[in-house]
Parts: sequence; structure tokens; C-alpha cells
Amino acid sequence: MPPGPNVVAPIQEGSLTIRPILVSDSGSFGAEVSGVDWENPISPETLAQLLPLQDKYAVIVFRKTGLDNARHIAFSQQLGEKLEINPFFYGRENDRLGEPLLFDVGNIQRDGSLVQPSSRRWQHSLGNALWHTDSTYHQHRAKYSLLLSHGNPVEGGSWTHFADTRSAYADLPQSKKDELEDLIVEHDLWHSRKLASPAFFGNPLPHELAAKPPAYHKLVQVAPDGRKTLYLAAHAKQILGKTFEESQALIWELIGHCTQPQYVFSMEWLSGGDMVWWDNRQSMHRANPYKEGMTARDVRRSTVFDDGPFAHGVVDEKLTP
Ligand SMILES: [Fe+2]
Repeated sequence: MPPGPNVVAPIQEGSLTIRPILVSDSGSFGAEVSGVDWENPISPETLAQLLPLQDKYAVIVFRKTGLDNARHIAFSQQLGEKLEINPFFYGRENDRLGEPLLFDVGNIQRDGSLVQPSSRRWQHSLGNALWHTDSTYHQHRAKYSLLLSHGNPVEGGSWTHFADTRSAYADLPQSKKDELEDLIVEHDLWHSRKLASPAFFGNPLPHELAAKPPAYHKLVQVAPDGRKTLYLAAHAKQILGKTFEESQALIWELIGHCTQPQYVFSMEWLSGGDMVWWDNRQSMHRANPYKEGMTARDVRRSTVFDDGPFAHGVVDEKLTP
């Protein structure tokens, strides 16, 4: 991470060293944490230290954890009772990991070759380069994502970007907050896929549509630390009571607001074993888009279902078709 004007001194808490990344009057966002003993199962004591840090910083970066698939999953399962199952959007036959609790979000195919631009998988991945929050298109939304790198990324070439939706909300004028307070948003995975790749996902396949119908969530939510936040993503398609055009104008105005430089930091993937753990309920993120000629990138994600008070969004018979 390039040092910015807001860099503050590391904080020592027991065995953990915490390096905050963005610090502003509205609060802190992002921290690199070292001192976790990844060689052994995470102890209840360490977990009790890490959870308040997660609530405070929303995005925690760990370096060189050395975790393998099993321990990646085991740590994730300590953070919530249920993990999302990989829906195998590219087809089970193309799944390289063979591990349903991990999403293969790198660019390597099962035979070791790299994904190609003409494939549905490449085109599907382009949506991940739009600002988003994981799994907003599920009625039972996600709490955490844990993205772990295997192998060595190319130096200077691999980044994930994060945006602080809590501070962005705090900085809105009161009149805007009042306007947004009760809005409900329809989230649709196929909307973001179409935005990123209209040629391939202008008309999703019938089985794709059937596999993932839209979901409904409040736009303004309360984050775990009690601050209000915006629950936004490129998946956000329609605001109930507004036209599609009005909805998209407001959604992208707000995404633009949240992703101004003062709310954003970029995490560089430096080594195999690097892992980033973020809270989807109080941040947005995006990947760099796939490019022709890119080298292999092996990153795997676990996703923990939300078990908080807003986990199931807005459930109302009138909302669903
Ligand atoms: Fe994502």
C-alpha cells in the first residue's frame, strides 16, 4: 500500500500489530494486521481480538499467512456459522479447486491454462472490476469475504481496491440522508454482468436467470459499529418506486460519491499467502479487470453468510414476482 498523508503509527494490542490504512475525522478504514499465529488453529483469544478490529476497520489485510484451503475454510468457519457454496457459474466441470466452499476467482483453468477473452468465464469476471459488494444479489446476504492468494503474484500488477461506505455516508448532507433513508434496492447479479459485458450477458441464459433471481435490501444500513452506511454495488439495478433510469442515476451518483479518493485505498498483492478479510456490510471493493497477456493469478475466496439483524434484507411478498 503506498503511504498516504493519513498514515498513522502502528498500534500494538497484545501480540498483534495494527497498521491503520485510512484515518479520517469520520473514522478508520482498513488495517494491516500482523502477529497472528497462522501455524495453529486460531485460538478463541485471538478471535476475540480480531473481531473488534474487523468491526472497526472493515477491511483487514494479513501478509504471508501460509494458509492452505482447509485452514482458510476453518478460519472462515470460526467467523460465522455458514459459508456460501460456490454456485459454479462457469460449470462444475471447469472448477479447478473441487472445493465447494471456495470460489475460484483467479484466472487459471482446470487444465492449467489461463482463461481466454472469448470465454463466458472471462466475460463474467469483468463484472468484478465494477465497484461492488459480494452477494448483495442474495436475499440472505454475505457478512465477510476472505480472499487468499496462492503462488506469487506479479509485483506491481495485482491489486484490489476498497471503498469506505461508512465515512462516505457520514459526509453526505442531511437532506440527502433524509432522501435515502427508507429506500429499498433491487440487486441483480445479471445487471452487473450486463453492465460489464453487454455482448455476453445482455440476455443471460435461462438457467442462469433461474439460478439467481434478484434480492431486496435497504440502501441505508447500520454497520456493526453502529454507524450508518450505504449498501451499494454494481448489482444494484432498481430503487423501488423509481424508474430504471432514475434508479441508475442515483445508484451511480452514490457509488461515485463513495469511491472518491478520500474513501479509497488499494491493496497490493505482494506474496502467496496474503489474505484480505472484509465486511461486505460496510465497504465496497473492485478488482482490476482481466487484460490480454496477464499472467497467472490464483486467488480463492470464502464467503461467510451474514448472521446479523439485517441478514435477510427486505422480505415482503409484494416485492417478489
Ligand atoms: Fe467481489
